[in-house]
Amino acid sequence: MDLANGERSSELLQAQAHVWNHIFNFINSMSLKCAIQLGIPDIIHNHCKPMTLHELVAKLPVRPNKTLCVHRLMRILVHSGFFTKQRVQESADEEGYVLANASRLLLKDHPLSITPFLLLLDPDLTEPWDYASAWFQNDDPTPFFTAHGRTLWDYGCHEPRFNNFFNEGMASDARLVTSVLVKECKGAFEGLNSFVDVGGGTGTVAKTIVEAFPHLHGTVLDLPHVVADLRGSKNLTYLAGDLFEAIPPADAILLKWILHDWSDEECLKILKQCREAIPSKEKGGKVMIIDMAIQNKKGDDDESNVETQLFFDMLMMVLLPGREREEKEWKKLFLDSGFSGYKITPILGLRSLIEVYP
Ligand SMILES: C[S@@+](CC[C@H](N)C(=O)[O-])C[C@H]1O[C@@H](n2cnc3c(N)ncnc32)[C@H](O)[C@@H]1O
Repeated sequence: MDLANGERSSELLQAQAHVWNHIFNFINSMSLKCAIQLGIPDIIHNHCKPMTLHELVAKLPVRPNKTLCVHRLMRILVHSGFFTKQRVQESADEEGYVLANASRLLLKDHPLSITPFLLLLDPDLTEPWDYASAWFQNDDPTPFFTAHGRTLWDYGCHEPRFNNFFNEGMASDARLVTSVLVKECKGAFEGLNSFVDVGGGTGTVAKTIVEAFPHLHGTVLDLPHVVADLRGSKNLTYLAGDLFEAIPPADAILLKWILHDWSDEECLKILKQCREAIPSKEKGGKVMIIDMAIQNKKGDDDESNVETQLFFDMLMMVLLPGREREEKEWKKLFLDSGFSGYKITPILGLRSLIEVYP
């Protein structure tokens, strides 16, 4: 067949390569998941020096005839920046694998390991993508609902396996970001005596905060299937409830990765409940939000950070009725729900601490 409309072969082939790259983008994530499930980062880390392919294969739970396949798996993971290759000995040519910086967070025993977050790449959460185009043409709340017939929170209530791995994924994220929060944003906790972590999951955020600031009392409010079996401590209380129904009073309300789960209308309801639960600005009342303030401008920031924020926005569309928001969208929500001002501190990587004042 002739090339259409005088299109140049080189442009066509470039377009094809671009499409292919996007078709197969999932191979980056799935290769990483496979390496984690095989325990590769831990095995290489425990080797304490560059590890050759044969040494790696000898330690892996794989069939000996899969050596070349392990090499191919490692090749793409070196390409995507999770491992590097170094000479085994100064004099020899033979090379071995070592961890790259990003892989340190994938070690099972690293105190801030985000491996449970990576394991959210589960069919329960990836299948809804197959329903996205159908959802655009139906009235379901989300593609997740179209795929599973329930909202994500209702699904968690009925599927203990899902409830467990989802909560563990959230807790692993919470460990990392809260340890940065209590180190870098100490001032944000000054003058507070109590807080409620609304939708606080299994309590990792609240526990880290009360350990860092032992004079504080924290309450973790979450759905009954999330907190039912959890025991509090002297300065930590678990409360089963519905954030749309009631939020107990406290000096500060914490909302980590909550508002991005919900539509603007639902966020207004949540923010209004929060406002009723806290004292005036003069008495130190505030809402502390940990969420993204996205920068939807190409070329402004590190390109891959912008892309990751857009990934999260799509994730919130497919799994939940939520979205990631730009600063002007946050501002509108705060003013419309009766708050007087806010401060965004972009100190948590792709997310920010957003303090909102009554
Ligand atoms: C994205 S997770 C965030 C968990 C935790 N804040 C964190 O960042 O690690 C959202 C949390 O909101 C909780 N949640 C959802 N709907 C809720 C409701 N109506 N009332 C209380 N909690 C709710 C979920 O169970 C889940 O733990």
